[in-house]
Amino acid sequence: MNILITGCAGFIGSWVCQKLLENGHNVVGIDNFDPYYDKSIKQHNMKEFISDSNFSFSEVDITDIDSMDNIFRSYDVDVVVHLAAKAGVRNSGLYPLDYLKTNVFGTLCVLECMKKYGVKKIVFSSSSSVYGNCSAEKFTEDLINLKQLSVYAQTKKTAEDYIELYNRQYGINAICLRFFTVYGKRQRPDLAITKFTRQIRNGEILTMYGDGSSCRDYTHVEDISDGIVSAIYYDKTPYEIINLGSENPIKLKNLISELEMLIGKKANIKTEPVPDEDMLRTYADISKAKKLLNYIPKIKFQDGISKFIEDFND
Ligand SMILES: NC(=O)c1ccc[n+]([C@@H]2O[C@H](COP(=O)([O-])OP(=O)(O)OC[C@H]3O[C@@H](n4cnc5c(N)ncnc54)[C@H](O)[C@@H]3O)[C@@H](O)[C@H]2O)c1
Repeated sequence: MNILITGCAGFIGSWVCQKLLENGHNVVGIDNFDPYYDKSIKQHNMKEFISDSNFSFSEVDITDIDSMDNIFRSYDVDVVVHLAAKAGVRNSGLYPLDYLKTNVFGTLCVLECMKKYGVKKIVFSSSSSVYGNCSAEKFTEDLINLKQLSVYAQTKKTAEDYIELYNRQYGINAICLRFFTVYGKRQRPDLAITKFTRQIRNGEILTMYGDGSSCRDYTHVEDISDGIVSAIYYDKTPYEIINLGSENPIKLKNLISELEMLIGKKANIKTEPVPDEDMLRTYADISKAKKLLNYIPKIKFQDGISKFIEDFND
């Protein structure tokens, strides 16, 4: 299969590229090296597969419709895995227009090219943030009247809605995967696990929001990548929203203690109130992923986090 990966130089994108190349696919990767974090980190992310003969890379911005058209004209794309986005909840409140442009307008550019060139399948990276502070214990995909807490979350929900529209109106089959806090080797530098690890190691101040009782359903990137690959092959129904999580929420204070234990150093903790755009908890119900994608998260949190610390300087 010829698979187009948007955001191929990012944390999750680089894992998915590697996995698809190992499975013998042709991968067309695009990324604009968005300055949210350092270009050199993204170039390093692609180091292991950039010269693979089945991989082609183009530095393209998904909001540049002419360059996108050129990509779709040049490659006979079978499936799009759409991961390119401006990520980061807090940053989205500072630069809302940039988030709207990339995450919504950029997604429409991808969909328009798919429509024009007859590409019939998209796998989209949505997010647990679309659930907001919903009151359900576990988050199921059929929950309605969700209230997003940040511009980032709202752009993901809006992108899901456009994808559903293009499915209904233009027959583009789609799976919107709602990822729950992804971690593992090459994790984005702005995400808590990477940031805390650096701060504990260097004896820097670590800011803990709230009393440490907020929790996240941390999911290893290896499991997320497996879920993405299964979604590429899934063909039973034309449109689905599916959670990819681990059904194992971890409290923030327990995450910090685990990191302290593995690093062998106490954290220098300062507390601050929980920002308004932060969810208090996430907890994925993954029964739908199990049923439709045979998705079984394999990496237990304690194993994944200790491997993360082991790999940290790689
Ligand atoms: N990491 C998580 O915990 C998590 C959770 C939920 C959803 N997601 C989603 O998964 C996807 C991948 O996340 P990630 O953590 O790997 O982030 P990342 O920032 O590492 O990767 C995103 C990539 O997209 C690229 N990009 C940004 N704007 C672009 C544009 N206009 N044109 C082309 N490329 C562009 C960036 O340069 C980057 O390499 C994103 O859509 C993110 O919103 C991530």
